[in-house]
Formats: sequence, structure tokens, C-alpha cells
Amino acid sequence: MLGIALPLPLPCQRRVSIVSAIMEKADTRHLLEDAARRAADYLEGLDQRSVGAVEGAAERLAVALDTPLPDGPGDEMDVLGFLDGYGSPATVASAGGRYFGFVTGGAIPATLAANILAGAWDQNCFSSVSSPAVAMFEETALRWVKEALGLPPSAEGALVTGGTMAHFTCLAAARNRVLNQAGWDVDAKGLFGAPEITVIVGAEAHASLFKVLSMLGLGRDRVTILPVDDQGRIRAGNFPTIDGPAIVCLQAGNVNSGAFDPATPITDWARAGGAWIHVDGAFGIWALASPDLAHLADGYQAADSWAMDAHKWLNVPYDSGVALVRDRSALAEAMAISSAYLLASGNRDAINFTPDASRRARAIEVWTALKSLGRSGLADLVDRNCRQARQFADGLREEGVEILNEVVLNQVVAAFGNDDRTNRVISLVQESGECWCGGTHWHGRVAMRISTSSWATTDEDVARSLAAILKAHRESGG
Ligand SMILES: Cc1ncc(COP(=O)(O)O)c(C=O)c1O
Repeated sequence: MLGIALPLPLPCQRRVSIVSAIMEKADTRHLLEDAARRAADYLEGLDQRSVGAVEGAAERLAVALDTPLPDGPGDEMDVLGFLDGYGSPATVASAGGRYFGFVTGGAIPATLAANILAGAWDQNCFSSVSSPAVAMFEETALRWVKEALGLPPSAEGALVTGGTMAHFTCLAAARNRVLNQAGWDVDAKGLFGAPEITVIVGAEAHASLFKVLSMLGLGRDRVTILPVDDQGRIRAGNFPTIDGPAIVCLQAGNVNSGAFDPATPITDWARAGGAWIHVDGAFGIWALASPDLAHLADGYQAADSWAMDAHKWLNVPYDSGVALVRDRSALAEAMAISSAYLLASGNRDAINFTPDASRRARAIEVWTALKSLGRSGLADLVDRNCRQARQFADGLREEGVEILNEVVLNQVVAAFGNDDRTNRVISLVQESGECWCGGTHWHGRVAMRISTSSWATTDEDVARSLAAILKAHRESGG
């Protein structure tokens, strides 16, 4: 395990305190400069430290945190020193280039810097009155997301915490609209006595979708499940007849295989049946930003709503997701708040399109990512990560490791013989500190999942990580 010495809270060069709740301006500057220095040191140090939490760091943090609430004010510089000294080593180095767990994007430096500036602004971003600046950035950020992905320019959107809340936002609009079409005002009457909605999903739909169905009163289990193929794609053909209010969900990017449901036959059938078509595009929808990969998501533009993460492949800081709904009025009908908040500004007020009222300035990071990457930079990011996934798959295959998926995107699913041995390889890799890959289940087998989703991953990172995985493979008994 790579280790670093535990940085104890640094003695502060200057004592600052907010006993009077008023900090000197110079103290604020000093504190922020210290935070920026620590943040930069942290990021620069990632390459030399373990990718998982530094050995023993979580235990040291647990001991350090085991204290009662302080009786009175503390010294801010010491507080920051504590956070850095005990907190930083107990983090996982997901901001670095060798973290391949779950589907995790690193934050592009410009977006982190924007996040810090927006933090200083401390805007409440529910309306154009509460933050004119953020409201304007938000409109442009949403327009640029649609332009980057070729989605309908008239679609309305919400910036939310992530893919799950993007589902919630889109599916609330879907639920209300299909019930309205059936003559039921769910906004006023709720679901008691409402006509039933048929919700149709693929057998490999992401768990977040079921959570959202539960939160929306549609039920996790009251779904019609369509069979999938060996890559987790819905099988086209033999679709059931759609009768009455219905929502069909398809997936751009299976969380394991990265595979895409075949959009065109599904949307043709769903449209003919009058269903609302929703896309789980958490990370895969960003393929549309790459001229070389957009074909994977052919036909997805025909949907009614799209849920996607920004903190995955757009590489902005957590937390950030985007919900887009083709029909602006459907989103507004589900999300508009009471007249008490109608500010008559004549501008777009986010509070009428999002589940939240008060919220942070996610638009700033989304806008910054798209402004700093541009079309070509975004396409390069997606292309490079997909090429890196293929490098992983090829390198593992050459050494006899079984690759269980067609590597079409940025996801690799690998098995190292039997389940026990695969589990051993995953543990050895995580313990090595060289890189971090998690485990998953795929077609009844334990597998390692490698997700390449970060701007920070270089080809050298791939080579170094591949070497670490193959070393673990050999040590595991093969
Ligand atoms: C396909 C898919 N959908 C939805 C989600 C949920 O996204 P979030 O964790 O941002 O809520 C994920 C997260 O991994 C995902 O991979």
C-alpha cells in the first residue's frame, strides 16, 4: 500500500476567529488562500498516494471525530487544518486518473475553480430575482447541453443533484401528463383513484429508476419488464400492446456493459401506443457528443424526456444532473410552485421547473465545462475514455482474462476465472493502492467493473493500472 505521513493540523500562521461573527476581510482572504493551497496540494499529491483511502486514515479520522460538540467558537485555520489533516487522507482519490469505480467522473480543473467562485457568490438560485447571474448562466448551460447532444432546442430543463433526481423530475412530468391525457388531474387529486399507469422498463433498468418509481407512487414492482439480450439491451420485437396511460423507459448506457437499448423500434412502438418515452442517459447519452460514437444513441432524440448526469461524463464536481423534457408545459405543470413565488419578472424562474426551491449554482460548473471544452473538447473526452476502455479490455484479454461485455463505450466487465478468484483480484487491486476498480454481478457471475469516465485518466494511468490488475491476477493464483 502506498502511504503518506499523516498531516496533522498545521500550526496556523495567523489566528482568525469569528467570535464576533465578523471576520476581517484579510482573514477571509487568508482562509480562502489556505483552502486553495491545500486543495491544490491535495490534487497534486494524488499521483503519489494510494487510490483508495490511505491505510489507517479512516480509523484516525474516526478517533479524531469522536468528540462532543465544541462549547464555543474555534479557530477557522485550525478547523481547515483538521479537515485537511484528517479528512483528505481518508478520501478515495476519485479526482485522480486511476479511479475506475462505479461510473465516476473527475472534476475538470476549470469546473472546480468555477465551483469555488460560485461558492463565494453563495447565490440562492431559485429564480432570476434571487440570482440574475445564475439564472442567465443556467439558460445558456441548458441550451448548450441540448446543442451538444442534438436534443430538441425547445426542450425545457432542470439542473438537479444527479441521475436519480433527473429521473424523478422527468417521470413526475411523465406521470402527470399521461394521467392528464386520461382525464385525471393528479396535481390536484393525487394518485388516489387515478387510472393505472403502465410503466414499461427493460430487465436491466438501473436501480435508480425503481427507486424513483417508488417515490412517485408508481411502485417498484408494478412494472412490465421487457426481456434483454446478453448485453442488457431490450430485445426488439414482441412488444406488448400498450393500452391506456403508459410510460416506456429506455436506457442509453447499461451501468455494467455500457450497451444501449435499440431506440428506434422501441420509440416507434411506444409512440404508436401513445406512451411517454423516457431515457435513462446517465452517462451513455453523452455519446451523442462524439461524432464517432453518436450512432450508438441513434433514435434517442425522439424521446419525451432525458435524465443524465453532469457529474459523470461532463466531469463537473458533485452533485450535478440534468433533466430535459421535450414539452416545456409538461415539466412546468409538474414542478411549478404556488403563486406566492410568482415574481412577475418575465424571466425563466428555475423554481417552476425543478423539484427544489432554494438551490446551489450547478449551472456555473455545467456552463464552465461546456465553455472550456467546446464541442471538440467534449467529443475528445468521450472518445479518449472509450479508447482507454478498449485498451483495458485488450490488455486483459491478452493475458487470458475473460471480458464479459462488448466494449462499445467506457465500461469493461471482466471475470478472472471463478467468482472467488475474481473477488480476490478485486481485493488485491484495491489493496495495492495503484488503482481502484469495484465489483459487480453480471449474468449471475461476480465481475470486476472498470469505468473510464475521467478527463484525468492518461494513457500512462491505463498502463499502470493494467499492470496492477494483471499482477493481482497472477497473485490470485493464475
Ligand atoms: C445508468 C444509470 N442510471 C442512473 C444512475 C443514477 O445516477 P446518480 O447516482 O447520479 O443519481 C446511474 C449511476 O451510476 C447510472 O449508471
